[in-house]
Amino acid sequence: MKQFLFVAALFLWTGCANNPKLSIESPDGMAKLSFSLKKGKPAYQVKYGEETLIGSSKLGFILKEQAPLLESFELSASKQNSHSSSWMQVWGEDKNIKNQYQELFVELKEKTPPHRRLNIRFRAFNDGVAFRYEFPEQKEMKDFVIMDEKTEFNLNGDYSSWWIPQDFDSYEKVYQQSPLSKIKAVNTPVTFRTKKGTHLSIHEAALTDYAGMTLKREEGTILEADLVPWADQTKVKTSTGTVTPWRTIQISPTAGGLVESKMILNLNEPNKLNDVSWIKPMKYIGIWWGMHLGTEVWAEGPRHGATTRNTIRHIDFAKKHGIGGVVVEGWNAGWDKWGQKDAFDHVTPAKDFNFKKAAKYAKDKGVELIGHNETGGDIPAYEHYMDSAFSLYHSLGMHALKTGYAGGIYPRGEHHHGQFMVRHYRKVVKKAAQYQIMLDVHEPIKPTGIRRTYPNMMTREGVRGMEWNAWSEGNGPDHLVTLPFTRMLGGPIDYTPGTFDILFKNSKNKRVKWNADDLTKTRVHTTLAKQLAAFVVIYSPMQMASDLIDNYKGHPAFKFIEDVPCDWDESRVLNGEVAQYITVARKAGNDWYIGSMTDENARVLELNLSFLDENAAYEAVIYADAANADWRTNPTAYTISKKKVKKGDILKLDLKPSGGQAIQLKKL
Ligand code: NOJ
Ligand code: CA
Repeated sequence: MKQFLFVAALFLWTGCANNPKLSIESPDGMAKLSFSLKKGKPAYQVKYGEETLIGSSKLGFILKEQAPLLESFELSASKQNSHSSSWMQVWGEDKNIKNQYQELFVELKEKTPPHRRLNIRFRAFNDGVAFRYEFPEQKEMKDFVIMDEKTEFNLNGDYSSWWIPQDFDSYEKVYQQSPLSKIKAVNTPVTFRTKKGTHLSIHEAALTDYAGMTLKREEGTILEADLVPWADQTKVKTSTGTVTPWRTIQISPTAGGLVESKMILNLNEPNKLNDVSWIKPMKYIGIWWGMHLGTEVWAEGPRHGATTRNTIRHIDFAKKHGIGGVVVEGWNAGWDKWGQKDAFDHVTPAKDFNFKKAAKYAKDKGVELIGHNETGGDIPAYEHYMDSAFSLYHSLGMHALKTGYAGGIYPRGEHHHGQFMVRHYRKVVKKAAQYQIMLDVHEPIKPTGIRRTYPNMMTREGVRGMEWNAWSEGNGPDHLVTLPFTRMLGGPIDYTPGTFDILFKNSKNKRVKWNADDLTKTRVHTTLAKQLAAFVVIYSPMQMASDLIDNYKGHPAFKFIEDVPCDWDESRVLNGEVAQYITVARKAGNDWYIGSMTDENARVLELNLSFLDENAAYEAVIYADAANADWRTNPTAYTISKKKVKKGDILKLDLKPSGGQAIQLKKL
């Protein structure tokens, strides 16, 4: 890995001026962040060009059994520097990442006893601004408890907003669009568009040993951090010598620019794993969708999906079609007790599943058998099993594991997104790395760029994924064109696309109701071509082709899924508007792949192939909605066509209602 580093440091030590104001701007001069200390109260402000995006916003904390860290500060020092470097991802949307910013570091000290100290580090990138608090070691303070973080985001207008409601345990929600003033409280990332058309999104980076941040609307258009509590209602148990996660505000003049932002990754620490040779992005299939459809079940018995025979059938299919892995849910004992404490046994297989045989069969075929640990949220039980389970999987030659936390957390009162679970999720990532295991986490903590530091943290759910289409009113036509501009700004999504049997026709009469939801009216709310487009648009380094393998057998469109990579050299968002449409192009080797999708509205998008190499010919294989396709009436009508194209050619993408298009551009 070739890294070059250029750090120009400019030290600006400011004395103890009464009301100091300090600012930095991004390398391109567009994003401007200023810090002020008025009457002892720290605040920041953000502009983009001449547009004020965030007006003066407060900073600070309420602590337990101590005075707040909010006011009566003076500036003891400040320092500015600029940074420019680049680094390579182990895997991802882009191989090479540029990291350029200007930084302002302020050191604050209480004017009156006990003279506690608090530092804040601000950075301005071309694609946004970020800041974090740092608690320096000091004799005035050691261990302490945060009761409330008072960070404000004083948004300068009633911006159009795309959000999911605040929930301390789940991100599996339908995105809503409203004026900012209609928001009560939201999870992050939350995305906005100003009247001028500037896009911004608030989230966090490097969430480590701290509570997840949600946002609640105070008055007008001011959002304030609302940290997810512990069971005892405190927010963060910490000590000096630590830092908070970065509070991030991604900014772009276009919606697509937000999606291309690398700021969150840049704010995370570099890769800590020495050997990454075992980390390999892959597509996978699995024994999974049948359970959600209700054609088979997780628990052993006559309708058990995870039998040895069925697993071998899936491994054979994967081998034949060049699919990297097979996830097998329901392979272990305990599913009959799902929902109870101490239900799952993560080392003992179900009676009709020969674990060793399946693992050996997969290994011999060069297919990854992906393990599955549903914890049911039972953290003490899972932490008890972790070492022995991971060591067993490692000994069987397995390198990937899907985990899940469906249900309330044990100990009761803890939340999925509180500090208790942030600690647990990280423990699992580190433990998995020790055993050379890649992770796909369901019901996870939100993505904050940790994948840079621990590249075995491949993908995660934390989204209303495909499964909701099996047993609920489903994900509407605008869902997949909203996710890239919201949830995906945090990182990869295990959405599990690829349903070909959109109306579940082939499962009709075989489905048995298995939860409170009505299975009779369920379906997927897109065309088939849009499902293919999702393989390019919705990035995941472990990308599941989630339909029943019988629905893929002999299907011409499956060729696209066979061919499409899930690790890229370069990615570009060619067009897009939040919750309306998006077109993404990604390059692997010499070839490009394009995914384009629309909401319920049909549209024709013109695509200039300006990004192709000069003087080269490409064969475009185009998987498109058929002329009469429509997600409501004719979702599975698609066409496959081929044509020769070159740089500068214009392609017309004819997207039908909730439709899409997937294109492979092979360099000839
Ligand atoms: C919810 C997960 O999202 C899903 O993928 C899994 O099949 C079930 N929990 C059971 O673990
Ligand atoms: Ca889930």
